[in-house]
Amino acid sequence: MEIFIKLRGMRDILPEEVWKWQKVEKIFIEMCELFGYREIRVPILEYKNLFVRGIGSSTDIVMKEMYEFKDKKGREVALRPEGTASVVRAYIENQIYNREKISRFYYYGPMFRYDRPQKGRYREFYQFGVEVFGGKNSYFDGEVILLLNETLKKLEISGTTFLINSLGCKNCKVSYISELKNQLMKISDSLCSDCKIRIEKNPLRVFDCKNENCRLSLKNLPLIIDYLCEECRFHFKVLVDFLNRNNINYRITGSLVRGLDYYTKTVFEVISEKEDIAIAGGGRYDNLVNDMGGPDIPAVGFAVGIDRIIPLVKDDEKNEKVIYLILLGEKAKIKGIEIIKKFINKKINFETDYEDRKLSDYLRIASKKRRKWCIILGENEIDKGVIILKDMERGIQEEIKEEEIIEKIKEKLKC
Ligand code: HAM
Repeated sequence: MEIFIKLRGMRDILPEEVWKWQKVEKIFIEMCELFGYREIRVPILEYKNLFVRGIGSSTDIVMKEMYEFKDKKGREVALRPEGTASVVRAYIENQIYNREKISRFYYYGPMFRYDRPQKGRYREFYQFGVEVFGGKNSYFDGEVILLLNETLKKLEISGTTFLINSLGCKNCKVSYISELKNQLMKISDSLCSDCKIRIEKNPLRVFDCKNENCRLSLKNLPLIIDYLCEECRFHFKVLVDFLNRNNINYRITGSLVRGLDYYTKTVFEVISEKEDIAIAGGGRYDNLVNDMGGPDIPAVGFAVGIDRIIPLVKDDEKNEKVIYLILLGEKAKIKGIEIIKKFINKKINFETDYEDRKLSDYLRIASKKRRKWCIILGENEIDKGVIILKDMERGIQEEIKEEEIIEKIKEKLKC
């Protein structure tokens, strides 16, 4: 018989781990709402051209990594590889700029990139992102960085650094790119074939090359941060002052260019010492709304890779809050349902099993599930009008009067 397995690079998130995902999602939502951001939901499937235009036709994402296909009417569509292009499309299509001067959005969901899967890199992965439209001032860049930093703190994720850089505006790019091209031509023999193509198509991308030889050869190249115009230099300085004042751990990294073409001025990535991987990336994209057919509106945002955040979340959550009910015999099952209804009323989480097992089997199951509290109910207890509450961690148990169960459990669970 045919056995079905999941596609390469896709994952099942099993219940043992899902609580961590829910915790991360909840904290991100809480923090975004706290900062006055509102949720936006955009489709997972879009016209392919949205990403070609938005992200850039010569980027790796568009050239190599898109899940693209023709639909039944022959339209070229793609699974979204990121959220920014879709949010920009929705912003323009719904003319949100006519309703408010500043728009702050957050979004969450799966993204798809057909890359070579490895630890921390999947073909389906989850991003939590924010985008702010309408603000030129670098305080907006500071705000999104602060929001991300505060959220990481709330998640108790430490050992993270913000790498920051400025890619300047169209004006500063012109003189820089021509100088960069000149220098690259001089060393082109020592570069890989991909980088040779990049010199013509998109020279900034050479800084993203993973090839060790290229990295060595690129060491002495000029960096865009040294070519910024007056306005961009000031914009970056205000951001750096903001980060200093707010104790954000950052490092100016002149070679940080990011893999998407829409960035202007600020770009940043968050790296985790523990995993040596980028857990988030973002920056300013002042021309994208206009380039995609909307008005001239600046924007800034970031996206966090939730799959990469999960391994950094502490694994200390016990299943304390779920009471495991052991119902021994028919009468206990009937009584047990009465108790369960009280639990539902008082929002006490519970779990039970209606198969007729031995007490020792039930206790083994409860301990395997790491349940801290068990209720044991048999005919004896029913006749006496009590239940047994067992602390699985300490191995002790006490008899409690039936009418006092709820109070007692609430006290134990502190809820
Ligand atoms: P990005 O750097 O391509 O930026 O992705 C953001 C984050 O998504 C990365 O730092 C990483 O944590 C996670 N990520 C990316 N690819 C994968 C993958 N294959 N597997 C697991 N995690 C992955 C963007 O997507 C921009 N849209 C961010 C942005 C928003 N810029 C401005 N606004």
